[in-house]
Amino acid sequence: MALIAPSLLSANFLQLQQDCDMLNNSAADWFHIDIMDGSFVPNISFGPMVTKFITGTTKKYCDVHLMIENPDKYAEAFRDAGANNLTVHLEACPHLHRNIQQIKNLGMHAGVAINPHTPVSALKDILADIDVVCMMSVNPGFGGQSFIPHTLHKIKQLRQIIDEQNLSVKIEVDGGVTLQNAKSIVDAGAHVLVAGNTVFKAIDKVGMIGALKGIV
Ligand code: DX5
Ligand code: ZN
Repeated sequence: MALIAPSLLSANFLQLQQDCDMLNNSAADWFHIDIMDGSFVPNISFGPMVTKFITGTTKKYCDVHLMIENPDKYAEAFRDAGANNLTVHLEACPHLHRNIQQIKNLGMHAGVAINPHTPVSALKDILADIDVVCMMSVNPGFGGQSFIPHTLHKIKQLRQIIDEQNLSVKIEVDGGVTLQNAKSIVDAGAHVLVAGNTVFKAIDKVGMIGALKGIV
């Protein structure tokens, strides 16, 4: 069964406590928290301060997705803000191995995200060192975009490598996940589904999270 990670980016920030309570009372496994810097991606979200308020509402696993340049400058702040996993973008990190070591030394799990155009092969020499691959199935920066179908091939490729090498790294698929495509994504090999709009635009949000979990 796949893990479900609702993305707070689609929450109503005027009622964040209510939305966090809703997730806490749902079958959601992880909180997915999207951090954007207006430079690596063309949007700005929020930082460690708001993250700390969010993580303070929950005992669930907090998965922080950094879509920022120079993530090394902020890793400690996000650890202090309650991140359990900290994901950095391969495309933003010329010294990716160093970034991963820093995250682990700070006591967090470490993830690497790849954009839609980045091949799975680019992960080859870092895969054994990380806990999560965040496979972007949209171009990062905004919620509510459509799933890029080519991602399914990349998920299959990555899952095959992980299984062959008997690694414990999880494949997290991020962007455009819906009730309609969730099964094909999990069948391709995903372990974790991020869902923003699909959850938060639903009339019955808790029901939608349950339905996503049930389908897979
Ligand atoms: C996009 C973010 C995603 C986003 C997903 O840059 O990384 O986590 O919130 O939102 P949906 O599920 O609406 O595509
Ligand atoms: Zn994300």
